[in-house]
Amino acid sequence: MAEIVAGLGISHIPTLGAIMRERPNDPDTAIVYDTFEPVRSWIAEMELDAVVVIYNDHAAEFSLEMLPTFAIGAADSYRPADEGYGRSAVPTVPGDAELSWHIIDSVIPSGFDLVVCQSLDVDHGVTVPLTVVFGPAEDWPVPVVPIAVNVVQQPTPSAQRCFDLGVALGDALRSYSGSAKRIGVIGTGGMSHQLQGARAGHINEEFDRHFLSSIVDQPADLTRLTNAEYLTLAGSEGAELVMWLVMRGALSESVTADITGYHIPVSSTAAGLVALRNQPAA
Ligand code: DHB
Ligand code: FE
Repeated sequence: MAEIVAGLGISHIPTLGAIMRERPNDPDTAIVYDTFEPVRSWIAEMELDAVVVIYNDHAAEFSLEMLPTFAIGAADSYRPADEGYGRSAVPTVPGDAELSWHIIDSVIPSGFDLVVCQSLDVDHGVTVPLTVVFGPAEDWPVPVVPIAVNVVQQPTPSAQRCFDLGVALGDALRSYSGSAKRIGVIGTGGMSHQLQGARAGHINEEFDRHFLSSIVDQPADLTRLTNAEYLTLAGSEGAELVMWLVMRGALSESVTADITGYHIPVSSTAAGLVALRNQPAA
């Protein structure tokens, strides 16, 4: 059976991807580079066979006209999306359709009606975290199962619902007997930020640091917050943080935070990561 060995919560800011891809030796951005670079050797040490990436689409594949609450890719590859200036210059994302279908066959009967996408373009919500953790690559080293969450159009799924989806995802992964044995789960987005409106530029360091520590061993402090509280505390786009809770729900109750990183600002956004080593249940 497969084992979930690693969980990672990480920002997906496009500027972060550009820094990690194009500016390894730039003194002006070294502080950001150095905050995120340690995750590369950590992820290599995990020797993953596959990663599940929980992300939100930013009107690249879906739009307000058709926006699933939860969707999953079930393809053998995912093209980088055209985000306005052509497709991003990153490798095509390899998939693992067999693992996707196992998750679908397990998670839907347990009460989460995922929309199944046999064709899916993935935007910076997926490709920036891959760039950060795997470096600028000719090819990404492991196959990816993308799971998209609506954090854009109200009503969005609650923090508790996202965590519960993660629990169902964890059950699915632990019952997988296919070729992928060591699996990682990555939740992307955040940290606090608001990109538009009267509160554009909103950053809440106190809340972000509370989130980074609570997600390790007090996730209930985060799942009890309402969506309105996420919007108020973390900003309209900071509400992306609920996707880290899908990741956390998939892991065991007991985890170890091997790396925590935080920097403000990247772009006009608080950027962070938490790298969790999973303790398999006894
Ligand atoms: C930025 C942050 C995001 O979450 C995003 O999806 C796009 C841009 C930013 O801070 O620039
Ligand atoms: Fe975003």
